[in-house]
Amino acid sequence: METKILSTSEYDIALAGEIIRNGGLVAFPTETVYGLGANALDENAVKKIYKAKGRPSDNPLIVHISEKEDIAPLVKEITPKAKALIDAFFPAPLTIILPKSSLVGNTVSGGLDTVAVRMPENGTARRLIKAAGCPVAAPSANTSGLPSPTKAKYVIDDMNGKIDAIIDGGDCEFGVESTVITLAADTPSILRPGAVTKEMIESVIGKVNVDRAVLEGMDSSGTAVSPGMKYKHYAPKAKVIIVDADRKTYEDFVNSRENAFALCFEGDNVIIPKLTYGKEDDDLSQARELFDALRRLDEMGAERVYARIPNTDGVGMAVYNRLIRAAAFKIIDLKKPFFIGLTGQTGAGKGYVCRYLSRLGFNILDSDKSVKKIYENNPALLKKLAEEFGNDILVNGKLDRKRLANIAFSSKENTKKLNKIVHPEVISLCEKEAKPLTVLDAPQLFEANAQSRCYKVISVVAPYKTRLKRIMSRDGITKEQADARINAQLDEEYYINNSDFVIYNNGENIEKQIEKIMEEIL
Ligand code: TXA
Ligand code: MG
Repeated sequence: METKILSTSEYDIALAGEIIRNGGLVAFPTETVYGLGANALDENAVKKIYKAKGRPSDNPLIVHISEKEDIAPLVKEITPKAKALIDAFFPAPLTIILPKSSLVGNTVSGGLDTVAVRMPENGTARRLIKAAGCPVAAPSANTSGLPSPTKAKYVIDDMNGKIDAIIDGGDCEFGVESTVITLAADTPSILRPGAVTKEMIESVIGKVNVDRAVLEGMDSSGTAVSPGMKYKHYAPKAKVIIVDADRKTYEDFVNSRENAFALCFEGDNVIIPKLTYGKEDDDLSQARELFDALRRLDEMGAERVYARIPNTDGVGMAVYNRLIRAAAFKIIDLKKPFFIGLTGQTGAGKGYVCRYLSRLGFNILDSDKSVKKIYENNPALLKKLAEEFGNDILVNGKLDRKRLANIAFSSKENTKKLNKIVHPEVISLCEKEAKPLTVLDAPQLFEANAQSRCYKVISVVAPYKTRLKRIMSRDGITKEQADARINAQLDEEYYINNSDFVIYNNGENIEKQIEKIMEEIL
């Protein structure tokens, strides 16, 4: 099918109206996003919308009208709250759900007994509806699952050849779809946040709920009040991950990532490839630019995108609601600095893993170095250790770590005693020095009970013989000493059972294992 590209001239609008009246499909601008319109009262025409979008048939469409009087025939009753909202806001980026009248078919309403009604503010949209002379069913004019189009060119990308015409009316003003509120339930409930905010609505009709699915995920088997909530949405090809962090932490985080894109705010100090979506303190600019940025990321070939989290107040709730769906609910929380714990039995090859992670750009914190610092700068601690393990561990007032190790790691009991003295000091020093997403290289992670401070724990394990050989040559110790150290440690099963990820250092491609794990964590 040839898709006509139309202007907003009188002639073209009249032509577009005729196409709709005759059962065809026309995409048109609204103040929110472009819509894909058909005669709402013509079941066959409405079916074409689902087909062109690849939209599941149980996901109902919004019926658009151009005059307030056109609402009454579509619904069972205009309730007092509905009337109040209509009077206060229409025309507006606001959609109201009410029990439907018999005029509204089952295809438009996705089999529900309610109908969603909206009177758009955009002049072109209303002129088109008038010209069509019927209510116009219109979802966003994107292929199902992709970001909604905020420019005619994105409609062309998705719909060219599939629909009769596209009216090019320039860029959409708000950039995110209308607020959807149901008045068909006992308490009014916002099913989708938009530019008409919860606060604005509450100032007119009092308390309203925000449906749980607005800010949280829901699996596709869940029963949604609004069927649209359960489907994958706004998802670009790129993998988007939201980073929950203040500006500086976000900048540090993304600037040390490789092969990644940043989706940040104007003025953020980001040196990796980036796109912005509005300004930090301007939720309307974020709403306007978000979908465009998501589409452009794909055009730029981005594969992994770290998005800076928006505020969730006001229109920010709408921005966050779209972004979190684009990210398939993946968020990295850097608000509390957390570690990725890396541990393993002595000689298992943790050192190699650390060096590789460092090459991948991860910040590594060596807990052994922190221990050293503590021993060097903490006379009170040395005194305690000497009391416990004997003065022989001190040479000229300084700690001989080898002697301490030989005594302290010779039995589980001694190891416990040492840990109790040293671990709390080490943990607090590490936490002081940590940046978010630091890999904490900690042979004693579990013994120090530091796994609770870790976002994820990775253990490196290797066969007994390999470990034995390694530590004998590395530390210049006898087989007996090496055995004693190994026996003073937790066994392999413990590491495996208490870790989120295990790296098997047994000759299999260890780099691949590491990359796969970090991929999953990030
Ligand atoms: O801003 C907008 O609302 C745009 C422009 C074109 O008007 N339209 C739009 O439509 O975003 P669509 O189909 O992409 O999103 C409509 C949402 C879907 O999540 C759908 O499930 C929900 O509204 N919805 C429609 N009718 C409903 C009903 N009767 N009950 C519950 N949810 C409904
Ligand atoms: Mg949509």
